[in-house]
Parts: sequence; structure tokens; C-alpha cells
Amino acid sequence: MRRIGFVESNLSGSGFDALRAARKLGLHVIFFNCGLDRYHAAAGGTEVLSTCVDEFVSCPTHELAPLMAAVEQVNAREPLSALLSVAEYEVVPAAEAARLLGLPGPDPDGIRVARNKADQRRRCAERGVPIPEFRAVTTAEEAARAAEEIGLPCVVKAADETSGFHVVRCATMAEVIDGFRAIVSVPTNLRGQPRHREVLVEECLVGFEVSVEVLAAAGSVRVLGVTDKIVGGHNRFVELGHTFPTALPDSVRDGLARAAVAAAQAVDFDLGIAHIELKYTADGPKLVEINPRPAGGRITELMDRSLGVDTMELVVRQYLGEPVTVAGAGPARGAAIRYLTAEPGVVDTVTGVDVARLVPGVHEAVVYPGPGALVRPLRVNEDRIGHVLATADDPYVAGRTAEAAAQQIVVSTRPE
Ligand SMILES: Nc1ncnc2c1ncn2[C@@H]1O[C@H](COP(=O)(O)OP(=O)(O)O)[C@@H](O)[C@H]1O
Ligand SMILES: [Mg+2]
Repeated sequence: MRRIGFVESNLSGSGFDALRAARKLGLHVIFFNCGLDRYHAAAGGTEVLSTCVDEFVSCPTHELAPLMAAVEQVNAREPLSALLSVAEYEVVPAAEAARLLGLPGPDPDGIRVARNKADQRRRCAERGVPIPEFRAVTTAEEAARAAEEIGLPCVVKAADETSGFHVVRCATMAEVIDGFRAIVSVPTNLRGQPRHREVLVEECLVGFEVSVEVLAAAGSVRVLGVTDKIVGGHNRFVELGHTFPTALPDSVRDGLARAAVAAAQAVDFDLGIAHIELKYTADGPKLVEINPRPAGGRITELMDRSLGVDTMELVVRQYLGEPVTVAGAGPARGAAIRYLTAEPGVVDTVTGVDVARLVPGVHEAVVYPGPGALVRPLRVNEDRIGHVLATADDPYVAGRTAEAAAQQIVVSTRPE
């Protein structure tokens, strides 16, 4: 039986789907992790771990040396056929370990450049990919000077986080300094890795946002599809909805897709699926960031429902060294997710979920916190409180359906 190792997982859809795909392919699944609590705390986590994982290996997963020691032990018992991570914080050590074992995988240097937002910006600037003006700074004085040069509002963000964590739109110098200090005051990132010493100060792009889901294989980068995104939340950029495929006119979509492919090529992304975010500004497409791993936020599931494929199975097959084809089962349908928010406070009542579930086309309507739970102010994706997922023949209708269903759900809160 072929054996596959996963290094951690994301909690936003594609990670658990990758484990399910490996199970479906009849692989022996080994899960390298440095603690399972957060998986058990996630919706569906206990179920996916118990049904899709054969072996758990507890080890440090944040850096290559200790991960490699654990991987080598496992590999010495019986060789692995694949080793990968679809989790943002672990993509680099996983790619390095796969390369050392001689297994199929992306070029670790490319993954390393993409994973660090400062290196990613520098590389894209060198290769002519359209990006916002930016400075990588290490002191509060440099941050203030960068903001002065770039102009306000600007965006201050950490080089090594995800899910909107430490990404702030700053309208004043005081906010720039606060944003900078908030990042450098913690010596590690959200997953305990040493914090990268540079902070980004960037031109605040104004334009609507999409992501482009690309597949790199056999020397080429192909576009699997473009996703319309809704972001919001005051001076933050919380993802409030995704629709696949985009309803944009072909010429706009194609310009965004071309910029995304150029970005993937700029960082030498050469195997797997990448999730590339862009804004369409008055000056055309501008790169927000390249994520050298499949999308979270259930986007890969929207792709599955739209295209009639199993996106994460495709990824697993690639890492097994199989050639992949991406022909869908038929013409693309539309699939959309809309996230729910509520006033911060303690949840009093939740109503309307049943009504939302009965809306034709709705597959899921879920509110995460129950009565008595805390709703935090909307700052990062984890502060959302639920979602509705819908499909329709057409992406625009799928989005409108999800919105109509979401509107039925009311989560009332009272002050803490
Ligand atoms: N320079 C920028 N201008 C405007 N919005 C930005 C900029 N950088 C980031 N954002 C917004 O913040 C969101 C999160 O930033 P991103 O760089 O993608 O980090 P993360 O890894 O947290 O997703 C983006 O999806 C985008 O909406
Ligand atoms: Mg992002």
C-alpha cells in the first residue's frame, strides 16, 4: 500500500479534503503534527482524523531539522510515496523534506520566496509582476518614512501570517506605528515560528478582489478558475464571500488570470495548486499575494461543485508523481459561500437557520457560536460567525441565493 505523509493541515476546508482524498485513493495516511487539539476543536476535525488518518506522528513541524528526523524514521520503516503540506505555515519545511527524500514536490526555494511576503514582493518587482508600491521595514522610524513616501492610507502587514492576521489599513501615522509595533512586539508568528524581522508598508490598493486558482505541472502554469471575493470589516480585510467562477467579463478575467500566472512563474512555483489574490484597480490587475498552496475558505470545494472535479484529489495525485488532467465533468456551474457576522458581544439568540437551509440551492447554513458564546469584533477570518454555501447553474445566481439565505439568519448579541 502506498504511504503518504501530511505535515499538519489547514482548518479551512482544503486540508481536511486532502486527507479525505488520500483515504479515497486507498493510501496509508500518516499525519505529522505538533498537537491535535486545534484539529479536534475544528468543525469535522475529530471525524476526519479518525476516519482518514492511519498513523499520527507527533513531532515539531515548524522547521526542517526536527521534522526531517521524524520523517526519516517513518520512511526507514517503509518508504513514503508522497509528503506534502497544504497548511500555510508548514509548506516550506514540508517541501524541503520531500525534496531531501527525493519525492515529487515543488521547488522548495520557490515555496520559500512565496511564503515570505517581503521576499515575494521583491521577486515580483524584479520580474515585472504588477504589485503595489511597498517597503520592507524593520524599525518604527522606517515604517513612518515608508508611509510618508507611499502616502496614506497605506497597508501595514506582517510578512509571515495568513487569514488577514496583522493586515491593517492605516489612515494615520499613529495607526502605522501601532500596526508596526503590534507585529514586532510578538517574537513569533501565530504558529510559533520565529517572526520574520521585516514588516511591509504598502500602497493601499483600491479595487475589487479576486483570487486565481492555478495549477503548476510539467513546466507550465494553468488557470483552473477565477474566484470573485468579497472583503470587508472596517480597516481590516476579512473574507466575507467567495463565488466560483467569477462573473467578470472575459477581458477583465483574462487580464487578472495573466497577472496571476506571471506571479506564479516569478516565484518559480512548479508543482501543485496555488491561490493567488489580486485586486483590479484603475491601473489594471495588481497582485495582493501568492499563496503557494490550495485555497482555504472552502474555495476548493466551490471548485469541485462547479467543475465536477475533486480538486484535492488532483493535488494528492500530483504529489504521488501522477500526471494530472483537469477536464471537468461538464460545463461549469456556479458555487458560492457567504460568511455571517454579528455585533460583538455575547450571543443571545440564533434564528432563521432552518429557513436558510430550506432555500433551494442551499447546501449548508451554519452558525458557529451557540447562545452564551462570545462574538469578537470583526478583524480576521476567524471572527466570522457562520456561513451559507449555495450552488446554481450560474455563479451570479449562486451568490445571490447564498446572500438571500444568509439574510434569514439573525444572531443577536448583548454587550459582554
Ligand atoms: N496593499 C494592499 N492594498 C489593499 N488591500 C490589501 C493590500 N494587502 C493586503 N490587502 C488586503 O488584505 C487581505 C489580506 O492580506 P494578504 O496579503 O492576502 O494576507 P493574508 O496572508 O493574511 O491573506 C487581502 O486579501 C486584501 O484584501
Ligand atoms: Mg491573502
